[in-house]
Amino acid sequence: MKFFIDTANLDQIKEAQDLGVLDGVTTNPSLMAKEGITGKENIINHYKKICEIVTGDVSAEVIATDYEGIIKEGEELAKLHDQIIVKVPMIKDGVKAIKYFSDKGIKTNCTLVFSPGQAILAAKAGATYVSPFIGRLDDISTDGLNLIAEIRMIYDNYGFNTQILAASVRHTMHVIDCAKIGADVMTGPLSSIEGLLKHPLTDIGLAKFLADYKKGN
Ligand code: E4P
Repeated sequence: MKFFIDTANLDQIKEAQDLGVLDGVTTNPSLMAKEGITGKENIINHYKKICEIVTGDVSAEVIATDYEGIIKEGEELAKLHDQIIVKVPMIKDGVKAIKYFSDKGIKTNCTLVFSPGQAILAAKAGATYVSPFIGRLDDISTDGLNLIAEIRMIYDNYGFNTQILAASVRHTMHVIDCAKIGADVMTGPLSSIEGLLKHPLTDIGLAKFLADYKKGN
C-alpha cells in the first residue's frame, strides 16, 4: 500500500519524507488555507515547493467547477511538474474532465467520493486515483471502511486500473484496516503514519535490552 501524507505543511511533509516511507502528498484548498497559503500564485508556488521535497505524486486540486474551467486549470497545474496529479471533484463536469485528461495522458485524482456508484464513474472516466473519504462518512455514522471494501470488490470484478486512494484517514487504525481491505493508497495526517510505530512491548523490550547491556559494562 502506498502512503500519501494529507497536508500542505512543509515541515510535516519533510518529516514523513525523511522517514523513508512516503509515496506522495495530497492537498486540498482547506489544507492550503490552514497553512495560510492563499491566492493563486502562492498556491502554485507551494505546489512547486512540495514537489521539491517529495519524489512521488502530488495532488493539486482545481477550483473551477465547469468543464472548460476545470480543463484550463488542470492543464496549467499538470504543466507545473511531472509529479502533479490533477485533483478533480466528483461532479458531472468533473467526470467529463477526467475523461479528457485521461485521453491526454494527464493523471487525475477524483476527489469527494462517497458512494460505490461515484467510484464506478471515476474508474470508467479513466481516473488514476479515486478518493473515497472514509473519515467524513464515519463522522455521519456511516461505515467509511465498508465503502473501501465495496469499491475494491467492484474494481476487482472488472479489472479497473483506477487506484483506490483511501482519503480522510484520521488515525492509525484506519491505515491498518485500509491495508487489510486492499486499498492501493491511503492518505492521512503524519500522526496516522507515526502511530504505526507504537507498541508498549517495543518500548519495554528496548529499555530492558539497554539496561542489561549496561550491566555488562
Ligand atoms: C483528500 O484528498 C482530502 O484532502 C482529505 O483526505 C480530506 O480529509 P478530512 O476529511 O480529514 O478533511
